[in-house]
Amino acid sequence: MTGSSAPPFAVISGTQVQQALAGRERQVTELVEETYRLHGAGDSVNPPSYFLRFPDRPSARIIALPASIGGKVRVDGLKWISSFPENVAAGLPRASAVLILNDHDTGYPFACLESSIISATRTAASAALAADWLTRGRPRPARVGFFGTGLIARYIHTFLAGNGWSFDEIGVHDLSADSAAGFRGYLEKAGPGRITVYEDAEQLIRSSDLVVFATIAGEPHVSELSWFGHNPVVLHVSLRDLAPEILLASTNLVDDVEHCLKASTSPHLAEQLTGSRDFLAGTLDDVMAGRVAVPTGRPVVFSPFGLGVLDLAVGKYVYDEVTRSGELHVIDDFFHELRRHAPGPA
Ligand SMILES: NC(=O)c1ccc[n+]([C@@H]2O[C@H](COP(=O)([O-])OP(=O)(O)OC[C@H]3O[C@@H](n4cnc5c(N)ncnc54)[C@H](O)[C@@H]3O)[C@@H](O)[C@H]2O)c1
Repeated sequence: MTGSSAPPFAVISGTQVQQALAGRERQVTELVEETYRLHGAGDSVNPPSYFLRFPDRPSARIIALPASIGGKVRVDGLKWISSFPENVAAGLPRASAVLILNDHDTGYPFACLESSIISATRTAASAALAADWLTRGRPRPARVGFFGTGLIARYIHTFLAGNGWSFDEIGVHDLSADSAAGFRGYLEKAGPGRITVYEDAEQLIRSSDLVVFATIAGEPHVSELSWFGHNPVVLHVSLRDLAPEILLASTNLVDDVEHCLKASTSPHLAEQLTGSRDFLAGTLDDVMAGRVAVPTGRPVVFSPFGLGVLDLAVGKYVYDEVTRSGELHVIDDFFHELRRHAPGPA
């Protein structure tokens, strides 16, 4: 942007976001990898997420994730994402979100994007990236297990498949039989692999070499270490499922140490229990850069807190795609008071 003209302000709908991202699993996963590397190199600002909670609605929260990213993306912004778990019973997804992108040079917001899809997409891309890096050096898992089968589980499966994964066995476990059945229906259409719905959490974990946790558990509900005796790779996306004892017997990777050791995540509980961070091997970026090796003789647990820089990178990708397609909906006159001392239109 040049001179004193304000940038145009665009609104990008969920339909447009989905069109921009559909079938782009590999590109988005590469973008998430580049973003983790930029963040690891310090070319980002990513302060702690702010959790807004309500005394009258204790299960609900809205999280603010402000961030700034350099590199080729070069944009600032904010994701503002609600989690209202009771929505699901009423037929609405749990999470809803917007993402605001701010111009790097002027600070002006230039776009508001529907962001539940962007958030699910970056989360799934990060999980697929971790599955790839953390299984190198061991046989590629042919048995995957989904523990919790909502929207995030579906996106993670789509991103694994889109990155070339295929499974002989797909295990499914959910407290809700309806969720498990709905996810099974999705899997049957999505591709090959023998699908088993496990009523029993133990059987799911014992039957899976790659385990995906995507529940909404607020505190650990899996504490039996022997279930992990086959040393699976665990994508602990919902962050609060595993008792600290499981983490202490595993190789632990996170996306960002300061972020992840907060908000009663399982790694946070493990830090409180031991009084140290020694149980952490490092970040996924450490693994990608070769600074940390992943041993095969114990379980591996990846706990990604979810970084605002990923939302920015994916959001800017969507913005650029929509702009390229000529379908950007600009709100005329969104910014109005543009001359400091003269009222009215510029
Ligand atoms: N780490 C990240 O970056 C990140 C990003 C986005 C979402 N998430 C997390 O992913 C999780 C899933 O999100 P979603 O949108 O798919 O939610 P969702 O409500 O659509 O699905 C969650 C499913 O988990 C099931 N469930 C809850 N507790 C369970 C338990 N103890 N055992 C088995 N199943 C259980 C529910 O029945 C439901 O089917 C949430 O916890 C969310 O916070 C993490």
